[in-house]
Amino acid sequence: MKAVILAGGSGTRLYPVTISINKHFLPIYNKPMIYYPLSLVMLLGIKDVMFIVNPEDLDSFKKLFNDGSQLGMNFHYKIQSKPNGLAEGLILAEDFIKDDNVFYLLGDNVFFGHDLPKVLKEAKEDVEKNGGAYVFGYYVKDPERFGVIEFDEIGNVLSIEEKPKKPKSNYAAVGMYFYDKKAVDYAKSVKPSERGELEITSVNEMYLKDKKLKVKLLGRGFAWFDAGTHDSFLEAGEFVATIEKRTGLMIGCIEEIAYNNGWISKEHLLKLAQPLKKTEYGKYLLSLVKDHERS
Ligand code: DAU
Repeated sequence: MKAVILAGGSGTRLYPVTISINKHFLPIYNKPMIYYPLSLVMLLGIKDVMFIVNPEDLDSFKKLFNDGSQLGMNFHYKIQSKPNGLAEGLILAEDFIKDDNVFYLLGDNVFFGHDLPKVLKEAKEDVEKNGGAYVFGYYVKDPERFGVIEFDEIGNVLSIEEKPKKPKSNYAAVGMYFYDKKAVDYAKSVKPSERGELEITSVNEMYLKDKKLKVKLLGRGFAWFDAGTHDSFLEAGEFVATIEKRTGLMIGCIEEIAYNNGWISKEHLLKLAQPLKKTEYGKYLLSLVKDHERS
């Protein structure tokens, strides 16, 4: 399976902060926002990632991530000339996805929860074996801000609507999806919505029509933030800070995951930690080597 992370868009809901900087570089506490979705990809063992980026941000992404080899991964970049909508990312990534399945994520979503990798792995393996698509539902008090999933008592999806005025449930579709290879063709047939975007919800509706859309719910043990507004951005940062300070363990630390996955050596991790060693982040990376040596 490959992964595509959407990191374009206009970020107008974070203006004036994002007039001159792409929101995905903003810090959620101690690391750039984009580290969080990337860390999920890594926790699933996926090494091939494409970032969809705005033309003016390509160099900054390359400065941050290069070709991914520093993490033992392969990174690709594709420019989206205008924020035409989330489904366009699938079309732009066509040559990268080829005939594979894809884990599709939004670059401004932050997740945390016990067993999250396990839940995602089940969905990944189901799509790899049986095809189809997965969305993930999370109970919110303001569903009208999101894609909204309606389902019956045994979990069959009945409808999925983008930002409905009268939501049929309180379950928001969070910003990650698994798709089989049909997704690109479905995305190509999406027509622009009222807000002029190619909606990812329309792709999901096509899977639903084909009876191939499944949902998994992320219950009370999970935290989800769409960090694209001032309040949710602040809440996500506060949440990460609280958990990290309490446990001494980091959320979304990509070097740590690469090391634990066996994708980089101890020496390489030390090399990555060097320029960061004045920060708690760098000290944390150094401590990983020491902990490893002790155990
Ligand atoms: O956060 C979950 C929600 O994300 C879902 O519930 C909705 O169904 C889905 O449509 C999406 O809604 P938003 O309106 O919040 O999406 P937003 O415009 O904030 O963009 C999400 C991410 O995708 C963000 O990281 C920017 C990036 N993006 C966005 C657009 C429109 C792109 O890379 N290209 C784009 O054209």
